[in-house]
Amino acid sequence: MQRDFWLERWQNGETGFHQEQLNPYLGYFYGEKGVPLEKRKTLKVFVPLCGKSVDMLWLAQNGYQVLGIECSEIAVKDFFETHDLEFRIVEGKRFKRYISDAREGHARVEILQGDFFDLVLRDLEAVTDIYDRASMIALPEIMRLDYFKKMVELQDEGMRTLLVTLTYPQEEMSGPPFSVSENELNDLYSEKFKIDKLLGKDILADEPRFQQRGLTALYEIAFKLTRK
Ligand SMILES: C[S@@+](CC[C@H](N)C(=O)[O-])C[C@H]1O[C@@H](n2cnc3c(N)ncnc32)[C@H](O)[C@@H]1O
Repeated sequence: MQRDFWLERWQNGETGFHQEQLNPYLGYFYGEKGVPLEKRKTLKVFVPLCGKSVDMLWLAQNGYQVLGIECSEIAVKDFFETHDLEFRIVEGKRFKRYISDAREGHARVEILQGDFFDLVLRDLEAVTDIYDRASMIALPEIMRLDYFKKMVELQDEGMRTLLVTLTYPQEEMSGPPFSVSENELNDLYSEKFKIDKLLGKDILADEPRFQQRGLTALYEIAFKLTRK
């Protein structure tokens, strides 16, 4: 899934992956189970391949600084405009930075418009956490290897990721979203990351669009990854 594929999808409004509701895993692990509100301003959450996810708005409204990266300018502009967030643009060599400074009601939100694979470690300065929903599973197996290598490069020891994956029989449906099995995750990540499985559930009954695409099983699993 090269960038052109995604740019075209945004251009054509084919954004079935976008959810209008807060992701329940995020709400639970960063809300109820998260650190107290007054401590959150020291935390900065990196959201790779962020689209225009409302999860970023929730994070910012709940005290977390946000840093996203997204290749589509349509998605980035849409995010700030839909939520009436004032923003300024800083043009750079690799990225166009869209920044909404902290104010009453939300912490700072910055989205880098550009290619995830152009990121370097210093771009993630002060990042403490990573939230990956529909990012790793947006990529075919061959690109997931590059994604993994980049994630290793971008993280210092102790960095935590909340990763939400989908697992299904890959032969029944062509992605995206792609299936990421627990085995694949262990094979790729276990040397460099501690992997904790947090929650998993059968979601096939809630996903008629995937049933129509031929799926007979579909599990959503949340993991916590900690960079060793
Ligand atoms: C399946 S969507 C998920 C978006 C978001 N995480 C969400 O939960 O709604 C994947 C997103 O990644 C973006 N994307 C794909 N490849 C990218 C790349 N190399 N660099 C930056 N963004 C990319 C696409 O434009 C798309 O918005």
